[in-house]
Amino acid sequence: MNDFITPPNHINFRAKRLFGEMGRIADGAIAYFDLDGGGPTEPHTHSHNHLFIVTEGEAKILLGDREITVKKDEAFLVEGKIPHSVWNSSDSITKMIGITVVPSAEMCLRPFMPSDAAKIMSWNKDKRAFRLWSADRFGDFPAEPSELTAQFDDDRKIPLVAMADNEVVGFIMMRYPTDDNSLIRLGFVIIDDSKRGKGYGSKMLRLAIDHARNALGAKRISLGVFCDNKSAVECYKAVGFSIIGEDSYTIDGEEWKEFEMILEI
Ligand SMILES: CC(C)(COP(=O)(O)OP(=O)(O)OC[C@H]1O[C@@H](n2cnc3c(N)ncnc32)[C@H](O)[C@@H]1OP(=O)(O)O)[C@@H](O)C(=O)NCCC(=O)NCCS
Repeated sequence: MNDFITPPNHINFRAKRLFGEMGRIADGAIAYFDLDGGGPTEPHTHSHNHLFIVTEGEAKILLGDREITVKKDEAFLVEGKIPHSVWNSSDSITKMIGITVVPSAEMCLRPFMPSDAAKIMSWNKDKRAFRLWSADRFGDFPAEPSELTAQFDDDRKIPLVAMADNEVVGFIMMRYPTDDNSLIRLGFVIIDDSKRGKGYGSKMLRLAIDHARNALGAKRISLGVFCDNKSAVECYKAVGFSIIGEDSYTIDGEEWKEFEMILEI
């Protein structure tokens, strides 16, 4: 119950955020899994996604070649395109709520969930790409998915995932770097490595800019990007960012030059 909070003006009440905006809800169901129960016996696929919330016991989700454990009071979003099945992995009954989510055809941003981390981390194929993306924020390459989740340790950081065509295609973190809420700083901007150069990056950034302006009330967005990261520099320029300065960083014992970029919104 560590991650539960008591919101202002509530008493004897604990709550935990389980998920954020995602597609359209088509229906919801509740299921009881007896010992060793689950299914389907052959993993299946479908066009919609399933948001599973375990309220009792523990569920095991077989998703492609991964096996995910969802404990009591946790949620997991299953991308319907990936072959999957769901099983009771506790030694008594497991109780689970399943919500059918129909993804929007248009790209949208939704809050990051820890279950997204493995996919996002897999988009960095070598150490140089990893450092271009994350500078010195992690230790060795490759880093564990949990190390990404651990980056978002306070409520001034807003990690978001970009969904398109029913799958996670990108990731971006927005944060308030100072007490001044008019400034947002971007970080960890990345698109699925098999989908780059097709306009996803600029689309995700435009959605993030709208979010910063309309939902976060920001007036300015800043970021740092390594000068050698041509695709990123061009992508930021394409959505309106300008270079306002240059800095340098020591990465694995080498000096890497970085552009400071800004966008007034
Ligand atoms: C940077 C990144 C997010 C851009 O996403 P993307 O989907 O590949 O970019 P887009 O297809 O939307 O391209 C956006 C613009 O950049 C330009 N661009 C992209 N790659 C380019 C390249 N290698 N050279 C020149 N221009 C390039 C495109 O032509 C486009 O410009 P236009 O709108 O004027 O035509 C993506 O390449 C990525 O994930 N890189 C690895 C992670 C990383 O380094 N992130 C940056 C951390 S600061």
